Order: sequence, then structure tokens, then C-alpha cells
Amino acid sequence: MFPERFNCIRGIDSRALCSLLTLSFKIKSNPESYAGVLKGKAILQFFVENSTRTRLSFEAATRRLGGLNLSFSASTSSISKGETLTDTVNVIRQYGVDGIVVRHRSMGAPDLLADATGLPVINAGDGAHEHPTQALLDAFTLGIRWNLNFKDPDCFRGKKIMILGDLRHSRVARSNIHFLKALGAELHLCAPATLMIQDLSLFPEVTVHSFPDEILPEMDAVMTLRIQMERQNQGVIPSLAEYREFWGLTVERAKQMKAGAVILHPGPMNRGVEIDSEIADSEASLILNQVENGVFARMSVLASVVGRVDS
Ligand code: NCD
Repeated sequence: MFPERFNCIRGIDSRALCSLLTLSFKIKSNPESYAGVLKGKAILQFFVENSTRTRLSFEAATRRLGGLNLSFSASTSSISKGETLTDTVNVIRQYGVDGIVVRHRSMGAPDLLADATGLPVINAGDGAHEHPTQALLDAFTLGIRWNLNFKDPDCFRGKKIMILGDLRHSRVARSNIHFLKALGAELHLCAPATLMIQDLSLFPEVTVHSFPDEILPEMDAVMTLRIQMERQNQGVIPSLAEYREFWGLTVERAKQMKAGAVILHPGPMNRGVEIDSEIADSEASLILNQVENGVFARMSVLASVVGRVDS
């Protein structure tokens, strides 16, 4: 049985990750047969930080499993009057809540909520810590494109994947590194020094590059990341134009990629900064596949963590 919280990929073994991929695949193949998994259950969508696709896909996933959404908006709630996180949630749970999906700017908030409420909790992104369902949907999207066997805990062996951009502030990158490494992929991280993860000791066996050009032709996939303007309190890059010139996935730079290599981006994109529009909308781009698969991946997590379904 899957644990009653899904807060970080770090520490989950490769067999459990394979089970989630397998369940995502089964759900994608036949979503109707899972339509009653959350029947009679209410999921609190507790988003204290902005979100478009993550929130919508968790809400859609809950509905498609037959559950009910209780939605929460931080800016119009009593959180803005100084109420603590656990007080707010303990009030809301009196309305009858069977599970919580939480996005919060502070790392560790999902664990705090799980400890304080005893309810099943799913992390939808906590600060710069982790975004585990994004890593699941990214691995799922790549695995489908590459026809991988999700039952094999080493299914990404031989695949070379670059994560390019603002790794320092990226919970998507951190969850993806743990996920893809656990299943055998070769990971290459590339960013200006000021945007690289500062403590790489948590991420052994990755290769770090200052610039993408040398290694780009070898990659099977490139995951570009948004420059997170809102998390930068000092100028860590000289200018967006310079960033684009040296690290952006421009039309020129993408010509170096090998035939069949694919491109991902978790969104939202800064078109013309970390990725050119022509590349984001090209044949090689899996960006809309990521959005589509996000619903199935989140259905599999909700089904496992709240619905107690085994793959
Ligand atoms: C990301 C996030 O919020 O962590 N987006 C997402 O969930 N798809 C990445 C970002 O904000 O750049």
C-alpha cells in the first residue's frame, strides 16, 4: 500500500515510482473504470501560492475519480489576516475533508499539514523544495514517448536528460532529478553559476555544466525551466537578453540537438527568454503532452494516497 502522503520523491524507491507510472498508464488507457475511486470523498485544494495548470489538473483529476473539490484561495481567506496554516486547515476540515492537496511558498508545509491533521496530503509544490507530481507527469510523458516498460525499475537506463535554466529556485528540477535518477537516467544540469542548485551534495551522480552547447548534441531530452523572477531578490543574471544568448533554447541552439530528441517545459513559459516560441511549438516539444498527462498522473496519486488503490 502507498503511504498516506506524497510530499517528496527523495526517499521513494524505484519500485514505488514504477507503480505510480504503471497506474498512470492504466488510468490513461481506461479512465472510466476509475470513476468511482473517490466517490463520497472531498479533497481540499489548498493553494496558498499561484497556480494554473497544477491546480486545474488536481481539480480535474479529483472530479474524474468521482470526488468533490473544496477550493481555497489564499488572497481572499483569513490567512491574509494572520491565521496560522494549521488553524486554517483545522477549520476547513470541519466541513468534511478526506485529503489535502497543498501548494505553499514554504518548504515543509505539506509535512506540517500531514502531521497536524493526520489526513492524507499531496504536495503540489512547496517553495524551492519539491513538486513530486510534476516529476511523475514528466517521467510519464517521456516514458510514453520512448515506449518504456514502466514495470522495469531501470527503465530510463541509457537516456541522457538535460535540465536547463533556473535550477536554483526550481522544485520541479529537484523532484525530477530524484525521480529520473532513481529509474536509471543520466542527468545533466546546466545553468549560470548563480542559478545552479547551491547544495549539490543532495544530488549525487549528476553532471554539472556551465553552458549547454558542448553537451547538447548528446541529449535525448532537454527540460527547460522558467527564470523565476518572483523568487530572485537580487540580480543573479545580468540581463534576460544575455541569458537567452548563452542558455536559452533558441532556434539556433536547438539545431544542435540530435534527431528525435524531445523538449519539455513545466510551464509557465517566458517565451523568448528560456525558450523560443518556434521551439516551444515545434514537433520536438512535449509541452502540451505534459499538460494532458498531468491529469492522469494526478489521478494515480490521488487514487493511491486517498483512494488506497494499488497499481
Ligand atoms: C512550476 C511550479 O510552480 O513549480 N510550474 C508548474 O507547476 N507547472 C514551475 C514554475 O513556476 O516555473
